[in-house]
Amino acid sequence: MAKMWEGRFSKALDTQADDFNSSIHFDCRMFRQDIKGSMAHAAMLAARGIISQADADAIIPELENILQDIESGKLAIDMTAEDIHMFVEAELTKRLGDVGKRLHTARSRNDQVAVDIRLYLREEADGIIEMLKTLLDAILHQAKQHKETIMPGYTHLQRAQPITFAHHLLAYGMMFTRDIGRIQDAVKRMNCNPLGSCALAGTTYNTDRYMTADALGFDGITLNSIDGVSDRDFCVELLSAFATVMMHLSRFSEEIILWASWEFKFIELDDSYTTGSSIMPQKKNPDIAELVRGKTGRVYGDLMAMLTILKGIPLAYNKDMQEDKESIFDAVDTVKQCLTVFPPMLKTLKALPENMLKAAQKGFINATDLADYLTKKGIPFRTAYKLVGQTVAYCIAKNKVLEELSLAEYKEFHELFEADVFEAISLRRCVESRISAGSTNLESVETQITYIETFI
Ligand code: ARG
Repeated sequence: MAKMWEGRFSKALDTQADDFNSSIHFDCRMFRQDIKGSMAHAAMLAARGIISQADADAIIPELENILQDIESGKLAIDMTAEDIHMFVEAELTKRLGDVGKRLHTARSRNDQVAVDIRLYLREEADGIIEMLKTLLDAILHQAKQHKETIMPGYTHLQRAQPITFAHHLLAYGMMFTRDIGRIQDAVKRMNCNPLGSCALAGTTYNTDRYMTADALGFDGITLNSIDGVSDRDFCVELLSAFATVMMHLSRFSEEIILWASWEFKFIELDDSYTTGSSIMPQKKNPDIAELVRGKTGRVYGDLMAMLTILKGIPLAYNKDMQEDKESIFDAVDTVKQCLTVFPPMLKTLKALPENMLKAAQKGFINATDLADYLTKKGIPFRTAYKLVGQTVAYCIAKNKVLEELSLAEYKEFHELFEADVFEAISLRRCVESRISAGSTNLESVETQITYIETFI
């Protein structure tokens, strides 16, 4: 395709340099945003008398036609165009002649691309938030069934204290509610109209940037034209929020992989979310969870790429910034792919409460409760803690667990032990008596469920 800017040059751009320079292969996905931005711009130009109403009346419906033609497949995007902005303008001019050539008055591709990315990200961010809600729904679906399913809670991957499966799942639920908040916060700051900043310094035309802001659903306008075209910190913020979503998904995936192993066997993944091996007939592999964990690295990479693209470029626009889009698109695609498969995988997995309970019965996970038992009878916590440490060592030597000691053996450690000690260290009691706000008890779990429901 001929270059719009060829007047200045005596020679065509080298073919390979042209390919290298072009962004149409990836920015073609922003055709909708680009056309909507142009429609708003044309309407504003006419309202301000910068172009005639008759021209706007020709341009706007023709842009709509172009949009529909691309959507219906009637019009193929020309991959020899430099970018989507050039393609849309060239197509308009092809259809309208000189009238089409008036559209780019009081505008630059620099503010155009800044608008397009914002509109694109706003829409994708909304979609990702909806997907996160579906994930929260899957978490609640499992949590509601397992409010009283006891499992070991871990620190250092060592059995620590008894918790419920619901409490564990809801911890992830809380993380994903904050992910929603992070995305919403970033969108709020991003939702400012850069259109009208033009190349960098604004324009000599008496434009109305508030009018295009309104038409495009922005909350306001960028107040500095250089900032308007140079800023991509909203991309950094959103990529960072997406990377955090992936980090949470990856941690969750890691646990699902562990839980599905024969060593844990806390869950059984549904056949529709597992794969077999080409050689080992017995295998049932958690590939989906592993891939989510693996893809996390890409999104971290996208964030790093964006930060690095921006770190050394002077104001205002530099061609380096064209690289912003591939990072954004890759992160958006990856997060969406993961959020498509993860929630149903979670929803369809089957918890195995007997195995969880069996694991909870080993590892002295009620030792803190035994110390608390003595503390509540007046023994200072540190003393009780040491005594229980000795009791555990004694159990290990005898190959017993705390529940298996006799009252007489307990009395050897301290005379304040009574028959009620067995009830105090029963796993169910350990869970129920964690009464502090936000703990693993049933009422707290129900409060958490109610809270998360407000996000859905
Ligand atoms: N394709 C370009 C990009 O994505 C559009 C902006 C071009 N501006 C320029 N001054 N060359 O960044």
